[in-house]
Order: sequence, then C-alpha cells, then structure tokens
Amino acid sequence: MLGRLNHVALAVPDLAAAIAAYRDALGAAQVSAPQALPEHGVTVVFVDVGNTKIELLEPLGDASPIAAFLEKNPSGGMHHVCYEVDDILAARDRLEASGARVLGDGNPKIGAHGKPVLFLHPKDFFGTLVELEQA
Ligand code: CO
Repeated sequence: MLGRLNHVALAVPDLAAAIAAYRDALGAAQVSAPQALPEHGVTVVFVDVGNTKIELLEPLGDASPIAAFLEKNPSGGMHHVCYEVDDILAARDRLEASGARVLGDGNPKIGAHGKPVLFLHPKDFFGTLVELEQA
C-alpha cells in the first residue's frame, strides 16, 4: 500500500523568507511559484530536490490549520510527511480497520497537486502527521 515519499512539509511563518533560504542559501534550483489554497488555509510552495519535494506552508486566512502549530513553533517546523498510495479509499479503509484515525470527515480532499489527499492522526503514527496522496 505505502508508496513513495511525495514530500516533507514545513510550516513557516514567512514564506518569502523560507523561499529565499531554500533558493538562495541552500541553492535549490526548482522552487515553484506560491499557490494559495484557501480551502486548506495555506499558501504553498514546492521545492523539488530530485528524489522528493519540500512543501513550504504559510498560514492563509483566519482559520488556518497550521496557525496553532506555528504558535507552538514560532520559527517554523516539520509539519507532515506525505506518502503516495495507489488507491486512497482502499488505504483509508485498511487504516480505519487497523484502528488508525483519519482526520476530518474521512473523505479525501483535493490537495495541492490536484489529487485526493487524507491526513492521519499524529498520535497513531509516532507524533508525526501523515498525509496520503493518491498517486
Ligand atoms: Co502536504
């Protein structure tokens, strides 16, 4: 069921500063344009590092799901890892049968790549928020 690591996401307080750090200081060659995702409460940039991507997330709007995370981690921090799966509904059913908690109403949402995504409760996966994306 578990496929490739699609991306590692970092919550950042200042997206422009994070882009500058990745592009100019770290020398990342492939940095996407910022994309506002109001239904997810974030603005997102993807840094392609060849074998995976780094997703930089900045809060968007008043009810951003990463606002509380940034209150606890004001300089930013690792927010989630995203794995690819072939069939997201089959993956959800298998995880729920194993006792894992799927966040929200359990139905996939369309994520930043235009593909269905789900999030799994961090307490079920060793303190790490896990995103699944249908590849
Ligand atoms: Co993500």
